[in-house]
Amino acid sequence: MITGQGITKTFRQRGAVLGGREVRALRGVDFAVGKGGAVSFIGESGCGKTTLGRIVAGLESHDSGEIAIDGVPMSSLRPRARRPYFRRIQLIHQDPYSALNPTRTIHQALAAPLALRARQTGRPGSWIDERAGELLGLVGLDPGYVLPRYPHQLSGGMRQRVVIARALTVDPEMLVADEAVSMIDVSLRLGILALLRDLRERLGVSVLFITHDVATARYLGDDGELYVIYRGRVVERGPVEAVVSGPVHPYTQSLLSAIPVLHGLEEPGAQRVVPTEPLDEGGPDAGCLFARRCPFATGRCTAEVPVLGAAGGFPQEHACFHPERRSVVAAPAGRA
Ligand SMILES: Nc1ncnc2c1ncn2[C@@H]1O[C@H](COP(=O)(O)OP(=O)(O)O)[C@@H](O)[C@H]1O
Ligand code: SF4
Ligand SMILES: [Mg+2]
Repeated sequence: MITGQGITKTFRQRGAVLGGREVRALRGVDFAVGKGGAVSFIGESGCGKTTLGRIVAGLESHDSGEIAIDGVPMSSLRPRARRPYFRRIQLIHQDPYSALNPTRTIHQALAAPLALRARQTGRPGSWIDERAGELLGLVGLDPGYVLPRYPHQLSGGMRQRVVIARALTVDPEMLVADEAVSMIDVSLRLGILALLRDLRERLGVSVLFITHDVATARYLGDDGELYVIYRGRVVERGPVEAVVSGPVHPYTQSLLSAIPVLHGLEEPGAQRVVPTEPLDEGGPDAGCLFARRCPFATGRCTAEVPVLGAAGGFPQEHACFHPERRSVVAAPAGRA
């Protein structure tokens, strides 16, 4: 179980133009990912998803708040003592090209972490090659073909599978997949998503899926939870199907309204929501952060901060003073 409470992070941008400008990447985010669970974070580019994923994986510090792994608050430990906890959380990022050293074969890429693992667990050296083959099989690759090859000799999809196999060398509890299919050929994406789903089932590994794409979030975690993030704040959170089929926060509704309709096969949802203004990350920080763009804003929205909660009897939590379930997602044509 990995939990976060009140996670905040502010970056101070450097450089001549942006010098000194502060970016509040996360403004107090709470989350929980249970064993074998699937949680997806969605939101527009720049809303803080990658920052959150890196903090969860122990690769980035946060300003305030607490990350707890299996009930142990990380702030209670010295940095060295945190390492074994964070090692169980492995980040898979979007670019499998830069994740692998081009001068090393796949065998070398897997043998190094496995040798460490063998020492940690008191296994013989012969286990290393055996396990490398096993892991490649697990991610759907032929070890005989892949092991002697260099990364450039593999397709993007195969490389991402190798990256996943390498993450599995440490027997992780959780994979953080940050836009893990966005740089992969469209025809190969579904295979990688299916693999992540399969690993959840077979290994009980939990997956934190970070994406700007609702369709992939829905595919990966249809039994999981969806967190919708807007400018560093969670604005809606709940079971994936509840949020996707009946979003109550206007920002979620606008995000879902933007999914293209397959003309002839689908009809747009009955109540599409379009933001009244473009995104302005430097906008005012008071009240609801979405107020300037929200078609339903009232005076209260600019005066008070809406807090994430379960008001209104919906199955999901939301941070909106005027929540209303709207049908915004494309429905198959011909269906009422
Ligand atoms: N290392 C950094 N230095 C300065 N600003 C950063 C840094 N990393 C992220 N940011 C800023 O923080 C915000 C959130 O970024 P990020 O977490 O990458 O968002 P997302 O992954 O949702 O696109 C953005 O405005 C981004 O410019
Ligand atoms: S709180 Fe107000 S401004 Fe914010 S999303 Fe809800 S209706 Fe819109
Ligand atoms: Mg990102």
